[in-house]
Amino acid sequence: MSRASSIPLMGRDEEPTLFELSVPGRTAWSFRHTDVPEWSADELVPAEHLADEPLPMAELSERDLVGHFTRLTHRQYSVDLGAYPLGSCTMKYNPKLCDDAAGLPGLADVHPAAPESMIQGWLELLADLGDALCEVTGMKAITLQPPAGAAGELTGLLLMRAWHADQGRQRRKVIIPDSAHGTNPASVTLGGYQTVTVPSDARGCVDLAALREQLDEDVAGIMLTNPNTLGLFEEEITEIAAAVHEVGGLLYYDGANLNAILGVVRPGDMGFDIVHMNLHKTFAVPHGGGGPGAGPVAVSERLAPYLPGPVPERQADGSLRWTTPARSIGRVHSWHGNALALARAWSYMLVNGGDGLRRVAEAAVLNANWLRHRLRGVYDIPYDRPNMHEFVASTTSLKKAGGVRALDVAKRLLEEGFHAPTVYFPLIVDEALMIEPTETESLQTLEALADALERIAGDSHDVAAAAPRSTPVSRVDEARAARTLIPTFDARP
Ligand SMILES: Cc1ncc(COP(=O)(O)O)c(C=O)c1O
Repeated sequence: MSRASSIPLMGRDEEPTLFELSVPGRTAWSFRHTDVPEWSADELVPAEHLADEPLPMAELSERDLVGHFTRLTHRQYSVDLGAYPLGSCTMKYNPKLCDDAAGLPGLADVHPAAPESMIQGWLELLADLGDALCEVTGMKAITLQPPAGAAGELTGLLLMRAWHADQGRQRRKVIIPDSAHGTNPASVTLGGYQTVTVPSDARGCVDLAALREQLDEDVAGIMLTNPNTLGLFEEEITEIAAAVHEVGGLLYYDGANLNAILGVVRPGDMGFDIVHMNLHKTFAVPHGGGGPGAGPVAVSERLAPYLPGPVPERQADGSLRWTTPARSIGRVHSWHGNALALARAWSYMLVNGGDGLRRVAEAAVLNANWLRHRLRGVYDIPYDRPNMHEFVASTTSLKKAGGVRALDVAKRLLEEGFHAPTVYFPLIVDEALMIEPTETESLQTLEALADALERIAGDSHDVAAAAPRSTPVSRVDEARAARTLIPTFDARP
């Protein structure tokens, strides 16, 4: 995957090269761009639709505006500031290079409705990214349209439904494990299916015997993430796949945890038929705060005809054009998805190359195991065996001893200068602290995080319950705060 890519953005015969991005010793990436003619608003918009006067806008100087936003950023904790060990959400540092690549005018200043002949470079980028993601997942075809993991899940379930319908079957049930992320049952319901929950066994994996009892000819498929949300690899995945396939069901892979296995093992080889990826977790797309993500869905050969369209297709002469698969379920997003998020992810893949992506997974797994070892005996570790990119700790013993709960630990960590881990998820672990250090943290940062967690474990209940004391806002009723938000403008000099 580490190869130079030259992307003509306008007509293929057109010169000259304006933008160039290169990383010494890794890969060189250049864009060709031809100046587009400039028009004034008067030429583009009919006179009767032009406003007579400027719109009334807030009167603020640039100084006031910059001051306001700079003050706000100082009150925020972000991935650019330090560790953000939010399990399952994979909040890792995003290289600025990827932002720079997505901001290149040849990519950013293109209208999605531009004719194919003018966006051959974009089509090539999307086709190359799709091929690379198929390679990483072991799948045959892909749609890049879904804008998030949850949107990918719904797309996958609609694909499942369309495929079963073409087999002349009407099935009603989709199985998900009791450790699953909340979006899984929500997507099952939106997709028109009923959720059947399969329990986890004592090792934290799908209880295969219980699954076998649930499997019948009414099961459309199973949704799994592997590693699962306990950070554990489902070791019996090939047996699970065989059992589900035996009753004619399909396997859906929730790719939120793909960063744990990148370049090591592929969902397609485990037996999955449909895979969504969270490019905003596994690759480099800043997410959180509702920012645009990308949740492409890749499928095995038999499901390719049902993919949403249009998709970029290579022609015999080397050019690309949009086509819509024969039995397409239709669009799942306007235009071509969050295209600049896709460009960020592609630049991340080019810069890392195949070997680099494997090192991403190795470092993510190493960091999480290191931290689990450090916290042994400090917190409960309900499934204390080699984990993948994340692990789940618990404050059950601390709560019994002095009343310190998972929420208190999360709030105290803010005082220590770290973002909190995910708490109270997965639901099957009491007082859960789900910790994902990610591959981007250094050993020094991991040590500092472990030291902070150790200090917090020694807190009295009163100290823990009063946290956070160092943040602009102390502990709030979060549900109430979200529902009765009162936005204010802070113009303090
Ligand atoms: C395991 C799992 N599945 C699905 C999702 C949904 O992904 P998204 O937030 O992109 O919709 C998440 C998000 O955190 C997740 O952790």
